Amino acid sequence: MGRIGILNINGKKIETPTIMPVIHPNPKKQIVSMDLINKLADVIITNSYITYRTKHLREIAEEKGIHKLIGFDKVIVTDSGSFQLGVYGDVDVQPLEIVEFQERIGVDVGTILDIPTPPDVDRERAEKELEETLKRAKASIELKKEKGFKLLLNGTVQGSTYLDLRQKSAKEMAKLGFDIYPIGAVVPLMEQYRYRDVAEIIINSKMYLPTNKPVHLFGCGHPMFFALAVALGCDLFDSAAYALYAKDDRYLTERGTLHLEEIKDLKAFPCSCPVCSSYTPKELASLNKKDRERLLAEHNLYVTFEEINRIKQAIRDGSLWELVEERCRCHPKLLEGYRVVRKYMDYIEKFDPITKKSAFFYSGIESMYRPEVLRHKKRLKRIKYEKVYITTVSSSVEKPYHENLNVVETDVDILIKDPVFGFIPYYIDTIYPLSQHEIPELFDYEKEINKKFVDEFINWLKKKVGEDNILDIMTYNYYINYFSATKKINADALRIRKMLQYQYGFDIIDDELMDKIKVVRSKTTGRLRQVLDENGDILFSVRSNDNLLIPSEKGAKLLWKKIPFPRYRVVVNKEAEEFAREGRNVFAKFVIDCDEELRPYEEVLVVNENDELLAYGTTILNGIELREFNYGLAVKVRGGIN
Ligand code: GUN
Ligand code: ZN
Repeated sequence: MGRIGILNINGKKIETPTIMPVIHPNPKKQIVSMDLINKLADVIITNSYITYRTKHLREIAEEKGIHKLIGFDKVIVTDSGSFQLGVYGDVDVQPLEIVEFQERIGVDVGTILDIPTPPDVDRERAEKELEETLKRAKASIELKKEKGFKLLLNGTVQGSTYLDLRQKSAKEMAKLGFDIYPIGAVVPLMEQYRYRDVAEIIINSKMYLPTNKPVHLFGCGHPMFFALAVALGCDLFDSAAYALYAKDDRYLTERGTLHLEEIKDLKAFPCSCPVCSSYTPKELASLNKKDRERLLAEHNLYVTFEEINRIKQAIRDGSLWELVEERCRCHPKLLEGYRVVRKYMDYIEKFDPITKKSAFFYSGIESMYRPEVLRHKKRLKRIKYEKVYITTVSSSVEKPYHENLNVVETDVDILIKDPVFGFIPYYIDTIYPLSQHEIPELFDYEKEINKKFVDEFINWLKKKVGEDNILDIMTYNYYINYFSATKKINADALRIRKMLQYQYGFDIIDDELMDKIKVVRSKTTGRLRQVLDENGDILFSVRSNDNLLIPSEKGAKLLWKKIPFPRYRVVVNKEAEEFAREGRNVFAKFVIDCDEELRPYEEVLVVNENDELLAYGTTILNGIELREFNYGLAVKVRGGIN
């Protein structure tokens, strides 16, 4: 669910995921210089309640605006005093008064005065406080509408550790139409390393929030949790941690926290930020408290941004899960937070791209439950089986199997047992991720993990093809004669047919077409390159990195004929029809409907309401997002159809 987004706030653009440094509204209390903040951050968060209640700050803010008070021209978010409410049990301002104040001082994004209910309180209290938060939320939105306020509003999700209350809170907040949805009151959980609770709270909120709005994990400033939070759909973070930790001589790293005392004997810091490359730990430790605190805070800020940038790169590479798995090895509590995600994988899989630039790396048992694996297990059932041989190959055989085993030409479906993916069908073994993965030699107990899935799948298969049509044959090479004995067929055409079944769930190449299509292999590598029709026109190209079949115009028309509406369709309105036909990209605001089951990066058909084919291309969003987004690219069009 991790994503790179552009938020347009008051004409100012920020790229997410990002971190908002917490800035003290009183310049005297701000320990890192605003020059550095300006250099690193595009958005900061400060406190409107402290500004409101401190006379001289309030006067400056009311007169010159919050941007002048802080010395920051870019996006300023303010909190409302809810945090103080949580700590002191009371604040000296009315809920609507603080919203009005935030508008008055020119804040870009303000926050309602939500009630941050702590973890583990009794249910009655959690319910009562949530009701109050919802009441304030509604009143704040009404006030904003009525008075035509310019500021955007944060509508915080509460509900303590009751997951159903988090769900309810998310649903109700979503109805009110906030601009950003923070997830609140997780600070005590973060402090206690209760990452499992935080992960579950994020997911249970996120599932009921609109996908086209950013989510802010309120009060999470430790970089070691960012990767997991981003993978679960958080776009914004705030960090007071950079300064608070520095106060206690604590040195942040993306793997955890170190105390200056622990590292003061190191020759050099394990970091090359400007601070760490200018001072040795000993030098830093010997500075006076104020300088030491400032320098540590600067380092803490640098590593915090560094981790955000690393996460962005991982999203671009398709290796975010690998990064999450790396980070979650840094503390057993983090691992616990990652492990609970498995429970929600059915939902998360919907958002996971069907193809990635980088290979799937197995890093431990948790990798077995990743969305790529789950999706494969689901899509195995898309293939039309008639006669099946189940076999194993020695782990020394390189993938793709069909290039490294004796070539067989058989109409039998050979399913090669795989400890992670369950089964790898011989005919689709080049498709992502079936060849694009690295798995180490597994322990015996790891190999057992898929047993339940294997049994369930075999039962399904038995019902489909009958017990007599399934043959379990020891090892591939030993029983190679079985395959040779079966009917001779056009194995290349069958390979394409099976690959398309797996990619679309429909039989695009039927028996009749099987005899007509021609398959082109590369003269140098011998690999599948193109699928041609009887006239020699290209229907599909086989993309080399993931072996997905990319349709040409003729291929798209064939898909359209073979796949019933609304599957693999993105429906656009009249306004977009002409653009699509010209081969221009489809933007989300023109999408009126779509196949709900679409995943990011699938090859889709762009149609109008009468299911007339307008264009074909790659969807950037999934079926849920396609319906909810009003801005940005939806389908990257390959070609239009006139
Ligand atoms: N800062 C940290 N947690 C919270 C929260 O739950 N609500 C608000 N408004 N601010 C916070
Ligand atoms: Zn550093």
